[in-house]
Amino acid sequence: MKYLFLYSTTDGHTKCIADRIGEVILKAEPAAKITYESLNDKNLKEFSFDLGLYDRVLVGASIRYGHFHPNLLTFATQYRDELHKMNTAFFGINLTARKANKNTVETNPYIKKWLSACPWQPTISAVFAGALYYPRYTFFDRTMIRFIMYITKGDTDPTTEKVYTDWDAVTAFAQRFQTLTEKDLKEHAEKVQRHKKEEEERQLEKNNLFLMRLVAWSAGCRGLQVVFQ
Ligand SMILES: Cc1cc2nc3c(=O)[nH]c(=O)nc-3n(C[C@H](O)[C@H](O)[C@H](O)COP(=O)(O)O)c2cc1C
Repeated sequence: MKYLFLYSTTDGHTKCIADRIGEVILKAEPAAKITYESLNDKNLKEFSFDLGLYDRVLVGASIRYGHFHPNLLTFATQYRDELHKMNTAFFGINLTARKANKNTVETNPYIKKWLSACPWQPTISAVFAGALYYPRYTFFDRTMIRFIMYITKGDTDPTTEKVYTDWDAVTAFAQRFQTLTEKDLKEHAEKVQRHKKEEEERQLEKNNLFLMRLVAWSAGCRGLQVVFQ
């Protein structure tokens, strides 16, 4: 099978996890072809990947100051229809996931928010705790992260270099990705349709709210005109 592995990383840890997933797949499927590409080399308006060349796509991305790299949304929006025709996987990395009550896609705030708003709904998703490399950060980043870790009762020693990733969970995710079937894809299609409908309803609600505000604002203006004329 041909795999496309896309990753968005700043300090390299997301790529390390993608590499580990690749190793697990190659062990089970030595003939597999895996192509690795970075998603955040540039701030692109459009990508030029030919997804037709691949059977499966994996995307991994890390959180930085509360957000994934904007290219991730550009990619998901551009390729949503093609991605929904094949088995795909997404994994997100952040330090919040080091906490036992925030280490699933249902409980991790960044992943929950991202998946509910993302136009592309991957067949499977996961969140893994990332790495902390204080000595490698700039003074500003180190100070900010230490402050956040202090608030969240984490490591604040500025010499800390620690990987919180649960590698067994990464291996299990890789095995699940590699063994996805056509049946999984069909079952997932229902979820994609449901998500599309919810997205449309949200948009409709937004438009209605905007119209109601506009009407209220015009009525207010008209009222003022009557009072002051
Ligand atoms: C400058 C900076 C900002 C970060 N912001 C967040 C954050 O807002 N929330 C969080 O849970 N983790 C945050 N992290 C932790 C990263 O997600 C974690 O270190 C991850 O391993 C980075 O992956 P990468 O090397 O692939 O970029 C931040 C890390 C850095 C260095």
